[in-house]
Amino acid sequence: MNETGRAANLGRAAAQYTSDMPPTQVVVNGQRRTTDAEPRTPLLWVLREEFGLTAAKYGCGIAQCGACTVHLDGEAVRSCVTPLARAAGKQVTTLEGLARGPLREAWLAEQVPQCGYCQPGQIMSAAALLARTPHPTDAEIDDAMAGNLCRCGTYLRIRRAIHRAARLGGGKP
Ligand code: FES
Ligand code: FES
Repeated sequence: MNETGRAANLGRAAAQYTSDMPPTQVVVNGQRRTTDAEPRTPLLWVLREEFGLTAAKYGCGIAQCGACTVHLDGEAVRSCVTPLARAAGKQVTTLEGLARGPLREAWLAEQVPQCGYCQPGQIMSAAALLARTPHPTDAEIDDAMAGNLCRCGTYLRIRRAIHRAARLGGGKP
């Protein structure tokens, strides 16, 4: 079979695949949502383009910067490389759905955000850290936040804010 034939077959297979697939259901910030997007679509695209939740940002697209971090069943994940299929039936939390609490208060008190681009991802990683380690050490903070890059260099403020949130909330984000 020549290239044209192969491409035509692939096109037919893709059309068949998408039209036969049932919609995907996810629970986003406590609300049940349904999407017809292909199961391979990155979760970030669905959150931003379909559901209008734009806090999670596109940075690198290859799991290297953390700007797209959201929670999947409470665990911080890079939504740019998380296929929609992995989120099916699970709880997705974005910054929009994160409860207002000590973490936000501490972030403001320490004046962490500069340009702000990386901050939704930073806060989601920090929230996941505090949920599993209520009073983290500097080393635990640095380890948990290592995958979230900040071109404005807010790392020390982030560390202070996480310690402050731990004190304020007794370890609850
Ligand atoms: S955009 Fe997902 S890690 Fe950079
Ligand atoms: S605050 Fe500017 S990239 Fe982090």
